[in-house]
Amino acid sequence: MTASSDKTRVLTGITTTGTPHLGNYVGAIKPAIAASQDPSVQSYYFLADLHALIKCQDPKRVQQSRLEIAATWLALGLDTDNAIFYRQSDIPEIAELNWMLSCVCAKGLMNRAHAYKAAVADNEEAGSPDPDRGITMGLFGYPVLMAADILMFNANKVPVGRDQIQHIEMARDMGGRFNHLFKGQYFTQPEAVVDERVQVLNGLDGRKMSKSYENTIPLFVSEKKLQKLVRKIKTNSLEPGEPKDPDTCTLFQIYSAFASVEETAAMRTEYENGIGWGDAKNRVFEYLNAHLREPRERYQALLEDPGHIEAVLKQGAERARAEAAPFMDRLRKAVGLGQFV
Ligand code: TRP
Repeated sequence: MTASSDKTRVLTGITTTGTPHLGNYVGAIKPAIAASQDPSVQSYYFLADLHALIKCQDPKRVQQSRLEIAATWLALGLDTDNAIFYRQSDIPEIAELNWMLSCVCAKGLMNRAHAYKAAVADNEEAGSPDPDRGITMGLFGYPVLMAADILMFNANKVPVGRDQIQHIEMARDMGGRFNHLFKGQYFTQPEAVVDERVQVLNGLDGRKMSKSYENTIPLFVSEKKLQKLVRKIKTNSLEPGEPKDPDTCTLFQIYSAFASVEETAAMRTEYENGIGWGDAKNRVFEYLNAHLREPRERYQALLEDPGHIEAVLKQGAERARAEAAPFMDRLRKAVGLGQFV
């Protein structure tokens, strides 16, 4: 199946440096899988493994994370006949476009990128004589590679977290500049989509669930480990029988991200009636476990069959390249790198 051009193109990438956790599921994976089932949409989901190299020089971790993330999306039901699911590194045209965009992107624009500015600020705070200490060209040019990801497929909508909005604006800037310089409508202007309804889950310690805080609940840990982690979720010291506030409670928040409206309302009543923390944690564990059991089994089976994952991603790359390769030919011609005859 090829992508049809009259559909809205939705594209997003997942940096492959970690193990997917409940927060990733609720915030990104679940809405993306749902969106991919919309017949008016052509979705492009990819493993941003070239981006992973910016943050991580541990090949085992990058490799393992790519496998785990691919297995996770497949286990959770991504329909790869609809969605085009691929690895960024399998599309050499993206790296080539990255260079073309680098040559039209103002350096000053990159100086203003959040990730780069934060790294410089860290150096200044640490009193380093070199503000660019430890900063690679990969980090500096991160938004250019991201623009190449997006512009390569002329994505209309890019679902991202708030922190990524600036990068989409930069992609618009680069695409517009290329169009202007080479006098053509090569690139569409992408739009960031930040879904306010999508919940940001809290982690074990009550802060935002994030691998950098080491407070995550990985999606597909064993049943035993899941129980242990749920028991570790921070609660207060109220005794059984005392009414509890669901709205400030991480345990309740995690439960409600998975449970139906009715189930959530019922749990709310339990809180008001003073359910004990031990009981509440058991209930949440049982609930999560019941919902994760089947995808966890599929996930384990997929991890044991990397050949299958490889084949799925190769097929995705083929579909992606069926668009990227002819488009790249057009772009080469535009800049003066077309064939002589
Ligand atoms: N930078 C994104 C993140 O860290 C991942 C990413 C890479 C991406 N390329 C993209 C997201 C293109 C959307 C579109 O979350």
